[in-house]
Amino acid sequence: MANEPTKTSTPQTKTKLVLDILIFIVFLVAMDPHSSGIAIHEWLTLASLAALTLHLLLSWDWIVEITQRFFKKIGTQTRINYVLNWLLFIFGTLVMVSGILISEAALPSLGIRLPQGFFWRRLHDMSANLVLLLLGLHTALHWSWIVKTFDRYIFQPIAAKFSTSKPKDVSA
Ligand code: HEM
Repeated sequence: MANEPTKTSTPQTKTKLVLDILIFIVFLVAMDPHSSGIAIHEWLTLASLAALTLHLLLSWDWIVEITQRFFKKIGTQTRINYVLNWLLFIFGTLVMVSGILISEAALPSLGIRLPQGFFWRRLHDMSANLVLLLLGLHTALHWSWIVKTFDRYIFQPIAAKFSTSKPKDVSA
């Protein structure tokens, strides 16, 4: 996490970056099921549960620490971040649960057919839109971490590759 407690890059930072890019791509595809097709929508988002769980586990120390310190002295941005993360978790769970309950491909392919309910469809749509909003805020709050980590693990290595692969000046 980008806010308190402040930590410099750890061996897990690169894993977090790769994972976050993956989650971001899955989310973009998930928000447009009519383009991807419902089967891809369902299997991809179900598979992303593994990446989401790992994302939480990699931030576990931060979660535990801020939970313990929440009613003591912590910065406003950390407090906002913490509450936002809980909202993201709650609405993220809702979008997954409601999605499973209206499944048209994954569950039927496993032989499970649930009665289709308008309520769960509305809830799925609404919670997906709320997750979109919360994810935007989550990204904004972590922007400096994103910029720093992209620079360190993506832009700098690319720049270094280009500078070492430049042809040597052979003029006398
Ligand atoms: C990150 C998780 C997910 C996101 C962000 C997401 C988002 C969305 C969105 C935006 C729609 C379009 C709603 C509309 O056009 O009214 C949709 C539809 C749908 N989703 Fe998901 N979804 C997720 C997970 C799932 C899962 C896990 C399943 C089932 C296993 C699922 C099943 C469906 C189905 C069946 C529809 C079609 C509903 C309809 O046509 O009314 N979704 N989803």
